[in-house]
Amino acid sequence: MGQGVGFGKVILFNEHFVVYGIPAIVSAIGAKTTALVEQAPGSGYELKDERPETAGYKAEKFEQQKESLDIMLKFMNIDTQHDHYTITLGGDLIAASGVGASAASCAAIARAFSDELKLNFSDQRVNEVAYEGEKGYHGTPSGIDNTAATYGGLIWYRRDDSKQLMERMRIRKPVEIVMGNTGKVADTKSVVAEVGKRKEKEPEKYDHLLKDADQLARNARKQLEDFRLEKVGAYMNENHRLLQEIGVSSPELDTLVNLARDNGAIGAKLTGTGRGGYMVALTPGRELQDRVADEIEKHGSQTLRTLIGV
Ligand code: MEV
Repeated sequence: MGQGVGFGKVILFNEHFVVYGIPAIVSAIGAKTTALVEQAPGSGYELKDERPETAGYKAEKFEQQKESLDIMLKFMNIDTQHDHYTITLGGDLIAASGVGASAASCAAIARAFSDELKLNFSDQRVNEVAYEGEKGYHGTPSGIDNTAATYGGLIWYRRDDSKQLMERMRIRKPVEIVMGNTGKVADTKSVVAEVGKRKEKEPEKYDHLLKDADQLARNARKQLEDFRLEKVGAYMNENHRLLQEIGVSSPELDTLVNLARDNGAIGAKLTGTGRGGYMVALTPGRELQDRVADEIEKHGSQTLRTLIGV
């Protein structure tokens, strides 16, 4: 039986803007998706999805998941005419919008096939396969999610035409964050397409927004590397405002973001596709992390207490 793993992620700066070549900062989180692949005589494949989920996520993503798997199998040259494969997904990453669930599953599947069939995939190859798999979910992914899912750690990411450029970032020590789940499933493909349409309609406005987002990521990187967390938090708040301007927040996300800030988080923003899914709050220290997470839970939302920069 072949085994593989993919990291969950949190985008700290510039989701959506990253689709247009603007740099972004992403970190792996302490939750993973695992995949097992078993080859047997026969043909075709069976997918057993045993990941924990936000209600409705798996059903809503089912068609995209199938498309993604078909793309990956073809890309890896896996013969499903003369062999049968059972693919089992598990792990502690909740299948939900905003935590890189699709990318984590793609990286895990690529690694599990490599292990089962002795394909010896390098991380770079795993990343390429996961990027193809992401096309089933995103249409035109920037590549940030599969990169984070494959390599883990804290990453400065930029897409330059067709190239995916990543640099590892280091910080003095890991920092506590809280992720709050709106419980709503978002469709990345359609939200990214909507932003694209608005950008076409209002090119000047979007030029300005992209420039602001670019500068913001560069400033935030410097403050993060210098471990000036108050400043990093302020940039997260500013990033949330830019994301509101491009129309990807939602009343549920704004409520959780405000709740986190009101309870002492030094910065909070939506993360990932938006419209639903997760928000992230910067909450250095266990005490602050617990206080913010407890308040979000009292509000009725599920939370993830984890670290960035591990
Ligand atoms: C989704 O996690 C991140 C987006 O920027 C899409 C992408 O980069 O492919 C919304």
